[in-house]
Amino acid sequence: PTVYVLNGPNLNLLGQRQPEFYGSTTLADIERDCRGLAADLGLDIAFHQSNHEAVLIDLIHEARQKAQAIVINPAAFTHTSVAILDALNAFDGPVIEVHISNVHKRENFRHHSYVSLRAEGVIAGCGFHGYLLALRHVARLIS
Ligand code: DQA
Repeated sequence: PTVYVLNGPNLNLLGQRQPEFYGSTTLADIERDCRGLAADLGLDIAFHQSNHEAVLIDLIHEARQKAQAIVINPAAFTHTSVAILDALNAFDGPVIEVHISNVHKRENFRHHSYVSLRAEGVIAGCGFHGYLLALRHVARLIS
């Protein structure tokens, strides 16, 4: 089975960006750890980051044909994007939403998520381990 792991805007700057919220781990570190765990779980992963809403939507459409589950950190689009929600609603498998920081401990505008209307599960505040927890959960859901 294949899982798409999708990352939204500014996550390319992980490791440099607001370490008080996001730690010192880079996106390349996260990708490496996800690939290692996926191999153990017998999953193939496609790992992508984009700063562009339209690119993320196209990747979600691609996942309709190519993936059995999606793990997504939509970053700021979490709180703004009906279009990403609609794209996820056109995908059939499980969707797990991940946030590195605990969005509920932060500004009010981060407390609402459009993506949560679709997600089977939401992991927030567990740092980059959230991605690994999400992969373990999807492995159980799809195998
Ligand atoms: C984030 C939380 C969002 O509110 C924020 O816009 C991000 C990252 C997280 O991983 O904690 O860019 O999704």
